[in-house]
Amino acid sequence: MAELSTPTPAGQTGLVLGIESSCDETGVALFDCATGRVVAEALHSQIALHAPYGGVVPELASRDHIRYGLRLTDQALRQAGVAGQDVQAIAYTQGPGLAGALLVGAQLAASLAFAWGKPVIPVHHMEGHLLSPLLADPAPAFPFIALLVSGGHTQLMRVNGVGQYTLLGDTIDDAAGEAFDKSAKLLGLAYPGGPLLAKLAESGDTAAFAIPRPLLHSGDLNFSFAGLKTAVANEVRRLTGTELPVRGAVSAPQPLLPADHLRRADLAASVQAAIVDSLVSKSLAALRQTGLKQIVVAGGVGANARLREALTAGAARIGARVFYPPVALCTDNGAMIAHVGALRLTEAKADYAINVRPRWPLMELSPPLAR
Ligand code: KG4
Ligand code: ZN
Repeated sequence: MAELSTPTPAGQTGLVLGIESSCDETGVALFDCATGRVVAEALHSQIALHAPYGGVVPELASRDHIRYGLRLTDQALRQAGVAGQDVQAIAYTQGPGLAGALLVGAQLAASLAFAWGKPVIPVHHMEGHLLSPLLADPAPAFPFIALLVSGGHTQLMRVNGVGQYTLLGDTIDDAAGEAFDKSAKLLGLAYPGGPLLAKLAESGDTAAFAIPRPLLHSGDLNFSFAGLKTAVANEVRRLTGTELPVRGAVSAPQPLLPADHLRRADLAASVQAAIVDSLVSKSLAALRQTGLKQIVVAGGVGANARLREALTAGAARIGARVFYPPVALCTDNGAMIAHVGALRLTEAKADYAINVRPRWPLMELSPPLAR
């Protein structure tokens, strides 16, 4: 893992505790600034909790973060063999995310910091994802292109340094993760659909269905995925013989493909191929336009094996290299928050006001304060 350039001042442990609670995972980790390594990690996923509802239920998410936050903190401290007093600062996800869920993490961070007499560092969740490839070995060097692909974001960014981000392209409607999840739902798959759709797609034919790739030749670096779910819904209607909704109907019943339908894997493979094609084509265009030779992929969709394969091959063809975070750090976790906390240690403050930012554009960030 990459060593941090930030030296640990004498007498300070350089251990940063990170708390993630923006959505459906409670994550706590300890990052050691001196070695640049994650020394302890504890994670609790709420997948089973939300699965019966087919998506994240915000109120249930908040309650579950309350249930697990302290427990996981205790677990991480024990794993590292340290006490709360040994922590130098507490980083927590201030946004973006679900307001109630964020408040739980912010409150936990402020309470621990107050009790232990330590400062806090508010962290941007997407900066956590964006910089997590720096935790891999080999790590990329600034400047690089970042493809941020999560449940709520699909962005191409030029990254010149910590807090120095220029937006190159964005989705004009749905995020890539959303496209995976909505398509999965139409295929009758459980929540969270992305990884399940990817698994089903393994045995399917990518060319079986003509799924559109909007904006593929738009000349800019933007994405559009909203049309995909309409295309999938239409295919599902065709396959199941369900009628199209009457124009102006208040609510059309959602068509669903039965689990044993023979064309299910083919449709999954075709949708996945369309999403991957769009992501890879715009990512390569960003590399060509900027002349940069490194691209990092961050966020949950970065765990997708087909995306990794296609992007790595495409980049190699133009002499560029792709960097991924370790797979465990692709989806939400406390380590990426502790890591950004370490990079922004100069911003640590004994300020225990509970402020969260459910909507917080990444572009608003600045480089860390000088020492
Ligand atoms: O970054 P993340 O864990 O949470 C957000 O900050 O949104 O991303 C979650 C998204 C979901 O849409 C999920 O379906 C998708 O990442 N995802 C995947 C895979 N693993 C997670 N999508 C496709 N293939 C995967 N293997
Ligand atoms: Zn995330």
